Amino acid sequence: MAVELLETLKEAITAYTGLSPNAFFTVLAAGVAIYYVVSVLFGGSSDHQPQHRPRSFEEEVQPLPPPVQLGEISEEELKAYDGNDPEKPLLMAIKGQIYDVSQSRMFYGPGGPYALFAGKDASRALAKMSFEDKDLNGDLTGLGAFELDALQDWEYKFMSKYVKVGSIKNSEASTAESTATDSAAEPTESTVAEPAHVSEPTEEDKEAKEVKDE
Ligand code: HEM
Repeated sequence: MAVELLETLKEAITAYTGLSPNAFFTVLAAGVAIYYVVSVLFGGSSDHQPQHRPRSFEEEVQPLPPPVQLGEISEEELKAYDGNDPEKPLLMAIKGQIYDVSQSRMFYGPGGPYALFAGKDASRALAKMSFEDKDLNGDLTGLGAFELDALQDWEYKFMSKYVKVGSIKNSEASTAESTATDSAAEPTESTVAEPAHVSEPTEEDKEAKEVKDE
């Protein structure tokens, strides 16, 4: 039975390919060998080097360490986080609130277009859209409504994009009301810090506060 089947197969090979069975199997073996060599050399779907690509990708993209909460620090201490020490996170403050901007090293890191803001409270510069040295601080005195509005937009952007890791110690006024459990990056009333020395409350604010207090 098996011999008959083999004979039929040989006849079919000769009839369909015009090759003798021996030649046919030689050609088939050569084809398989060439396919194997090609797939090993060029990767393809073979699993001879399955981990090669993902491993080198992981090595290139190193995940950032999770943000570390610093609590209250002075402006002087904040300067150490300007990105020049690669071991330290890259920090920047708006309205006395410090954010970890390490994920945007291309903006704020050394050589970046906004490196001058790193390690500082850049509120005044952001409000005025200024890069001048005299504006690289958190002093909001004399700013107009338009500038304060612009600053508010920056603050919302930072709140939603970055993790708040602390606040700047303020010798003149307490920032305690904004240092509570507001790590959730939501631009809510309780997370919007208004250092007391910076802007006097308006009549509207006072009224709102009275209503709240009642
Ligand atoms: C010619 C004027 C300017 C141009 C064309 C420009 C362009 C840009 C662009 C393309 C980005 C990247 C946005 C993104 O991918 O999220 C950016 C980010 C930024 N810009 Fe400007 N900019 C200009 C002026 C300014 C000025 C005057 C300031 C403030 C003084 C400023 C502060 C910033 C900051 C802080 C970021 C980074 C925001 C973040 O951390 O996501 N820019 N700018």
